[in-house]
Amino acid sequence: MRKPGFCIALCATCLAFVVVLLGAYTRLTHAGLGCPDWPGCYGFIYVPQTEEQLAHAMLRFPDAPVEADKGWSEMIHRYFAGGLSVLVVLLALQAIKRRRQPGQPLGLPLLLLGVLVAQALFGMWTVTLKLWPHVVTGHLLGGFITLSLLFLLSLRLSGRAPAVPSSWRLRLLARAGLVLVMLQVALGGWVSSNYASVACLDLPTCNGVWWPAMDFDNGFHLSQQIGPNYLGGHLHSEARTAIHFTHRLGALVVGVAVALLAWQLFRRGYSVLAGLVLALLILQVSLGMGNILLRMPLMMAVAHNGGGALLFLSLVLVNYRLRAVPHTSAANAFDLPSFLSLSPSIWRRGWNFTIGAVSKGARVVSLLQARR
Ligand code: HEM
Repeated sequence: MRKPGFCIALCATCLAFVVVLLGAYTRLTHAGLGCPDWPGCYGFIYVPQTEEQLAHAMLRFPDAPVEADKGWSEMIHRYFAGGLSVLVVLLALQAIKRRRQPGQPLGLPLLLLGVLVAQALFGMWTVTLKLWPHVVTGHLLGGFITLSLLFLLSLRLSGRAPAVPSSWRLRLLARAGLVLVMLQVALGGWVSSNYASVACLDLPTCNGVWWPAMDFDNGFHLSQQIGPNYLGGHLHSEARTAIHFTHRLGALVVGVAVALLAWQLFRRGYSVLAGLVLALLILQVSLGMGNILLRMPLMMAVAHNGGGALLFLSLVLVNYRLRAVPHTSAANAFDLPSFLSLSPSIWRRGWNFTIGAVSKGARVVSLLQARR
């Protein structure tokens, strides 16, 4: 049965999807600095229009002349994000009010509120740190996390997504798929924020070769300095190629993992879930390839972002449906430790494997040192 707050959570999920798409549009039209201040735009709550407002804007920001199109892209994204914030606050207030009702989630709405505050900060830093790739990528990831948490909340409040029987292997595969897609999304954000999308112009090769010249050190130099302004990117061509190429390799890994998950779901009779993740994977890979072959048409690049979000949501759904079958309503609650606790034996095996690998690594290093 539906729980109170379901409709708000569903509306917020849809709105979050729109906000993610608007964010992509703003990034891809290079409008991230369309308003040089935050939360207003040249000190106004809309893009300055009249001569008087334009003169005022010029006086306050002489180095950033008003570009109305870019300003509106940025402001529309902020208005929608503002609307989403109102819904998230409402969800949190409602959850606090109904906290004593059985099965009513409290942790998740509060977590969402925290993520939203972090997102607002990242939105502000995107502007004030002038599109620093770390912040832009963090903001993109934050958007995906907000969207997926809202979706999870909607699922929980809907009361219509019962757990289905599953083995720990299948659950492990589903979680691995979720993590891999998240990493691939982060890589995608890194491609976009470092302006590396056209670093390879052909497919499946990159600029005519299978393994191009790449500079991974600079491409993934995570402690690079801030500023002065990252619009257009700072990295040289081989560093951008390294980023772009890694995103392609990531797609390969994600492709194999998600296809394997779909196959396993299908084998166990969950053909709708299997079909959903497989269709979204094919869509996402096709959009990525289309972006390269057609030289990044704007709408296709935005759709690639949306496709990434839908693929991620489909994996959230799969993970939610495969959760350990609840015996009590408490088992239905989302809490990170139980979400991660697949089974004690898996943790034990993982621990033994890690210890074994580390001690083998140490032995190899000491052998190498002895040879020198
Ligand atoms: C398999 C799963 C994939 C996922 C989840 C994924 C996800 C993403 C995301 C989230 C972005 C950031 C978009 C933005 O900033 O708005 C991105 C960018 C990009 N992706 Fe993928 N991607 C995948 C596969 C691929 C493939 C197969 C290719 C091509 C071979 C590709 C090519 C690109 C390019 C060129 C960009 C940069 C676009 C830009 O500048 O915004 N992606 N990807």
